[in-house]
Parts: sequence; C-alpha cells; structure tokens
Amino acid sequence: MNSLAPFLFKLRRKNVSQYKWNSENAALIKDHSLIKHQMYREYIRNYVLERAVLKQMDRISINIVDGFCGGGTYVTKDGAQTSGSPLVVLEALRDAEQLLNIGRIKPIQIDFRLYCFDNDAEALESLRRSISNSEYQKYLDTNIVIKKANFSQEIPKIIERLQHERGRAIFILDQYGYNAVSFDSMSRIFRELPSPEVILTFSYGFLNSFLSEYGKLSKAFEGIGLEAPPRDEFDRAQWEPNGRPFFIQRQLIKGFRAAAPFFTPFFIKSRDSGPLRGSNLSYWLVHLAAHERANDVMKQTHWDLQNHSAHFGGPGLEMLGYDPHRVEQSKQPFMFGDDERALSHKALLDDIPRTMRPANDWMRVGDLWKATCNETPSTSEMQREALAALSNYSEVEILGAGGGAKRGGKVDRTDLIRMPPQTSFFFMKRPAA
Ligand SMILES: C[S@@+](CC[C@H](N)C(=O)[O-])C[C@H]1O[C@@H](n2cnc3c(N)ncnc32)[C@H](O)[C@@H]1O
Repeated sequence: MNSLAPFLFKLRRKNVSQYKWNSENAALIKDHSLIKHQMYREYIRNYVLERAVLKQMDRISINIVDGFCGGGTYVTKDGAQTSGSPLVVLEALRDAEQLLNIGRIKPIQIDFRLYCFDNDAEALESLRRSISNSEYQKYLDTNIVIKKANFSQEIPKIIERLQHERGRAIFILDQYGYNAVSFDSMSRIFRELPSPEVILTFSYGFLNSFLSEYGKLSKAFEGIGLEAPPRDEFDRAQWEPNGRPFFIQRQLIKGFRAAAPFFTPFFIKSRDSGPLRGSNLSYWLVHLAAHERANDVMKQTHWDLQNHSAHFGGPGLEMLGYDPHRVEQSKQPFMFGDDERALSHKALLDDIPRTMRPANDWMRVGDLWKATCNETPSTSEMQREALAALSNYSEVEILGAGGGAKRGGKVDRTDLIRMPPQTSFFFMKRPAA
C-alpha cells in the first residue's frame, strides 16, 4: 500500500456520513446494517434454493422490490468498500444460481427483476455508478429498474406492474424510522399479489420516546395506519415491569398479524454500542409472508447467522405471550445460539403435547407447523426433531406416508401425528424439561 494511503483515506472520509451518498463519497455503514445485509443475502439465497426444491423447474422467476434502496456502495469504519442492499440482492441471486447448477447438465436459470426506489437523487446516481462498475451492468434498465420515488406513492403502481409479471415478489422495505411504510400498504401488498413477502425494517427505538405520552403514541399509531391502542391497557401497563414496551410490541404485532398470515418479529443485534451483550436492539427486522414455508426459511436464516438476532420471549410455542412474572427471564434476550437451541428443544417437548391436546385426531406434521409457526422462534426442522423425541417417549404417535408407525427416526412434513388415545404406560419416561 502507498504510504500516503491512510492519510488520503482520512481526508476522503471527512465527508462520509450515514446514508449520504454523493459523487465523492460512499455512505458510512454501521455494524447493525452489515448484519441486516447478511440477513438479506442469506435469506434470498435460501429462498431461491427452497423454491428450486419445491418446484422441479428449469427457470425460477423472482421479482425483488427494494423500496428504500440507498446508494449501492458503503464504506465501513475500517475503510473497506461494501455492497448496499441492491448489490447484496444481485450477489445472492448469482450465488444461488451457481449453487443450484453444481453438477446439473441442464442449468436452472434465475429470471429476476430488481426494482430500486429511493427519494434521494444523489443516492440513485451513486447506485447507478455502482451497478455500472459491476458485473451486473448488462442488466441496467432492463432487469434492474431504478426510479426516484417516494415509496408509499409508488406502491399502487408497482403492485399493478407485478400483477403482470411472472414469479413471486419480495419487498425489501428498509425504512430509516418507523413510519414510511404504512400497515395499509402492507395489507394491500398481501391482498393484491400472489404469495408476496415483505422484509421490513422497523425502528422500535423511535417509539420509545412516546412511552409516557399516550396522546403522542396514539398519533404515531394512527400515522402508520393502526388504531390508537386501548387507553386503559396502556395505563395498566405502566404498573407492570417493562409493561409499556411490551404493550407497544403487542399492539404492533396485532397490526402485522392483520396484514399477513405469517410473520417473524426478531430484533437485529448491533455490535456498535449498547448495554446488552454489545447490542442496542433498537430495531426489528420483521418478515411478513403469505406462506408458512417462507416463515421457516426466515427462521432458519436467523439460526444460521447465530447470535446476530434477538427476541424477548419464550423458546417454545408461546414466544409472544407476555408474562410479567417472567420479565427477569425476558431481560436476557434469546440470541439464536447453541444454548437457545437446546432450550427450544426442551420447551418444544412440553409445548407440542400441550398444543395438540385434547384432540386425538391425526394431523399432518406440516399442519402443526402452519398452526404454530407464528408463535415460535424454532424452525420446522427443530419441531420435527422434537416430535421424533416425543415419539421415542411414546408421547406422540407418528404414521409415515406409507401408513406404517414410526418411532423416533426422521420425521417428515407429510407424516401424520396424534396424541396417544390413552395415557402411555411406557416405562421409558423422558427426563423433565
Ligand atoms: C436505511 S437507508 C437504505 C439503505 C439500503 N436499503 C441498504 O441497505 O443499502 C434508507 C434510504 O431510504 C431513502 N428514503 C427515505 N425516505 C424515503 C421514501 N419515503 N421513499 C423512498 N426512499 C426513501 C433514503 O434516501 C435512504 O437512502
């Protein structure tokens, strides 16, 4: 390296700031955004691989809408260049295509459209430059559409356009605060498009400033298309430990549930600063989906990235239930690491039989997942591992697709399960969870 380089770099970085791009400088990226990009990258790759397994096709069509796309390139605090969300998406699609085609004679092709919107002209110029200087230059203005727009005004037009495109749509809505994407817009996406998904950044920290003022909180809620939260519950919550933050969380979750059938509400951990294991946990990366398989892929992504996400709630099938008596436990966030995996397994051993009881009817393993996935941080694979253990302890009966009884072993989504019709006298009782 040239000996003047660090000095020149410092000079060039003088005007570097977060989310500000211009012809001289890329914007500065913080650690939590690097983690968010890792989530996008892994999720898109896993999503494509899962689609390819489900549908034995030779072409996968996918539309990605990056509603708050930014300038395409960032600089880290150590001076390294790194991709912004549009390039992260393109790189993830390329990696997925390469992985899919290892050893294939007839290659599978990913047919993509990437729509990039931002209301900052300088950010979009920077994005155009970043793509022009990349291997994706050939897709500019064909498969990659860049447009200056206020995203909420663009929603009806992009929905209409997507209704005429092949393939499903994933919306990456990386707003800076909490109110640039209304709940009405999200509901509309789910009403008007087939099997869409939304990955929404929601700055929970912003709402903290309204914790003590009901009037301001109600206005903020109305501004994003939600009803004002019930006043009496808000007042009652102030007497519970951590009551108001949990109360707000519950109200928002009601809104997400009304917008889409499946969702994950986990926080992104930041190593930048903050009191909790180096985390400020100030924003959610909420994933909304029309299909339970997508919910599974997103959860798998949180587990794959171990210790980068967090949630304050239970490990089993009641993760969102707020119990003031368990607040001490909730102060320790669930970090998707090895300890939490073991905790989840134990909790599922208790929660699955409780959830299935009292019905003794047969149900599909996949339907148990569908009915419970909004309530658990575990993946369907972890649920199936717990079912295998429960069948070993004779606490659940399993029938394979061919109709034969299974005890332990690998459990499939298509297997049938039920609680044993009468209490088991099997001698091998499992250890208490
Ligand atoms: C958090 S940054 C996005 C970064 C980008 N998604 C990434 O990860 O590389 C938010 C971006 O949204 C843009 N923005 C803010 N309000 C907007 C709006 N109402 N419509 C469209 N873009 C907006 C800002 O100019 C900024 O570039």
